[in-house]
Amino acid sequence: MSHKILILNGSPSGDKGNCAVFIGNLFKFFEKNVELEVVHLNRTSYGPALRKKIAAASAIVFVTGTYWDSWGSPMQKLLEQMTELEATPAILGKPCAVFVLMHSVGGKSVLSRLQGVLSTMGFLIPPMSGMVYSLVSDIALKGKSSHAKDFWHIDDAELIIDNLVKACDLQVNWTTWPVDKSDPKRKWLKF
Ligand SMILES: Cc1cc2nc3c(=O)[nH]c(=O)nc-3n(C[C@H](O)[C@H](O)[C@H](O)COP(=O)(O)O)c2cc1C
Repeated sequence: MSHKILILNGSPSGDKGNCAVFIGNLFKFFEKNVELEVVHLNRTSYGPALRKKIAAASAIVFVTGTYWDSWGSPMQKLLEQMTELEATPAILGKPCAVFVLMHSVGGKSVLSRLQGVLSTMGFLIPPMSGMVYSLVSDIALKGKSSHAKDFWHIDDAELIIDNLVKACDLQVNWTTWPVDKSDPKRKWLKF
């Protein structure tokens, strides 16, 4: 069966940044029958069109750099705005993969926290479906070391995509906890 995979780039530099280069390299890991679409969140606001793409996707790939220990501001804006999709059929049980880039420090915490947010929202996190790729690894892996297998390698993206696509075939009738659907921005602090 063919699948639609939506790739969301949370980098503030959008199609001009390193995340865009990383995404370009991901394409070769997908089978030809997979329909791919990339959305650069720095210049695509959340609205009916993006909501429709998210709902129609069989799976979503989240890509971001690390910026002062956190994910990119366009990714944060999306998470805030798509709160309305929490626990809805648009995302419930929808598999996602997460790729985080960094120079040297903070990316694993970004990966773990982002996967935590996505799981709480209702996405499915398949096993081994996220990695961090750093400038430090990129330099280190150019040399030979018996420790090399313990580093995330750029080609580990292949197995992550493989797990993501396998998870698309799962059919589970997930249960949701109750979600407050009133305006999450409403004031609760009163004196
Ligand atoms: C404002 C800013 C803050 C950054 N903060 C970190 C950081 O905390 N840790 C780190 O390892 N790399 C950090 N980086 C490096 C980026 O995570 C890395 O270059 C990433 O590949 C950027 O992807 P992009 O070019 O698509 O935005 C930072 C880069 C910028 C521009």
